[in-house]
Amino acid sequence: MFDSVTLASRGTANVLVLAQFKGEKLDANSKKLDPSGAGADASGRAEATGELGSIVQAFPGNGHERVFIVGLGNKDCFDPARLRTAAGSIARALSKTKAASADIAVHAALSKLPKSAKVDLHACGSAMGEGLGIASWNYDILRGSATTPKDRTKLAIHCNDAKFRGGLARGLGLSEGTNIARTLSQTPPNIATPAWIASEAKKMARKTGLKCTVVQGKALETEKLTGLIEVGKASEHKPCMIRLEYTPARGKTKDPIVLVGKTMTYDSGGLSIKVGGGMRGMKRDKDGGCAVFGAMHSIATVIKPNRPVVALLMCAENSISDEAYRPDDVIEFRNGVTVEITNTDAEGRLVLADGLCWACDKESPAAILDIATLTGGVVVALGSTYAGMWCDDDDFRAILDDAGDASDERVWRLPHHAEYRQLMRSPVADILNSAPVRAAHPVQGAAFLSYFVEDGIPWAHVDIAGTHSTDKDSGPFISGPTGFGARLISEMVERF
Ligand code: BES
Ligand code: ZN
Ligand code: ZN
Repeated sequence: MFDSVTLASRGTANVLVLAQFKGEKLDANSKKLDPSGAGADASGRAEATGELGSIVQAFPGNGHERVFIVGLGNKDCFDPARLRTAAGSIARALSKTKAASADIAVHAALSKLPKSAKVDLHACGSAMGEGLGIASWNYDILRGSATTPKDRTKLAIHCNDAKFRGGLARGLGLSEGTNIARTLSQTPPNIATPAWIASEAKKMARKTGLKCTVVQGKALETEKLTGLIEVGKASEHKPCMIRLEYTPARGKTKDPIVLVGKTMTYDSGGLSIKVGGGMRGMKRDKDGGCAVFGAMHSIATVIKPNRPVVALLMCAENSISDEAYRPDDVIEFRNGVTVEITNTDAEGRLVLADGLCWACDKESPAAILDIATLTGGVVVALGSTYAGMWCDDDDFRAILDDAGDASDERVWRLPHHAEYRQLMRSPVADILNSAPVRAAHPVQGAAFLSYFVEDGIPWAHVDIAGTHSTDKDSGPFISGPTGFGARLISEMVERF
């Protein structure tokens, strides 16, 4: 696979990429773009089914070296999200043929859809750009001397339709945020320590014009960031809160959207240690923070909203030592709420609680979104199709639902209720961090967090334990981290 995709200005490309719907002939618009007629011939071949993600190739003999016809599935229920899948197929096929450039002319088939289908060529271009960018991600930097290095290759894409082209540029930009999140997620826990993530955040901030500050050491105590201190204290890699700030060109005329990300660089479970293989993969317990990190990159470089955005990355390693926090400890948070620790493996909510308190107290937030790989229970409930979302503010939730549709990072509402809050009461402190029953684990997490958000502030909690990684190649993704949340948050911020 190529290492980068860039949008080039006009010029002839190696490959012309056209599109075809299932059971349909090549449309007249697409035919015009391929005067050789080779594409039209190929689209009549038996294997040119138009099935989503299928590719047939033709060799025109003059002009382009090749023509690809990518299948877009059934015309009657077209959805722009399919273009990410199609982009995955296109990227793989281009990479196989070692093409250096491609003219993405998929818009030609789309503009033939009926008005009632309401296709927005800009949104379609964005989905295609996201897919091409996502497909080009790899993580080879840790390959050593026993691996033969691969050629570094670049793909330049062209497009002659202004709207679709604008969308492609946006989508490639957004895919960068997703890919940054994936690279951070993939980085192993001996490298990606809280301090390392802070140094990466500073580098990113310098490049994109964000402001970055880090709360660490003694300052965690002065700021009463109890969850970070307690969860992080057994590790030699000390905890920190990374604060990234985007300020619009016009200045701070509005209250900020605040993003809080669980950034557990490793979750061993602590003294309630994970057993039976449950620890494997817990380097990805930082993926909420990684999504926020990637989103901040997209916000600064692509979205550029006219409202400030503040990100709080709550970084710690949940480890064991004689200094570890333990089940039975009682700790007090910044807002005065006391918590009995019943399970040190329910650590994510403790560091998120600090971020939520800080946000309410110090940031005057217009809205707060927290995102975390919080519970295995949400994987049981929703699998990898939807992230769990808790949000009782109708307007904010509508924005998140739309952002989920636009990014295809889907969220499904789960409930808050006074009974769940009651379930979290402790016999010795105000609340406990995990109820002694297995009931409603993901909802318990949300109920716990609700004790740290001030009434009246629109707030959403998103549990991405099921969606932050995938174990199979699908659409533009390869197995591994998905960067889930980076594009969801970017789309949310754009709509807010
Ligand atoms: N990081 C885990 C949740 C998780 C599980 C993320 C699977 C990704 C994949 C979290 O800190 C955890 O251990 N949660 C416990 C909560 C329980 C102790 C209340 C869980 O889900 O079992
Ligand atoms: Zn845990
Ligand atoms: Zn965890």
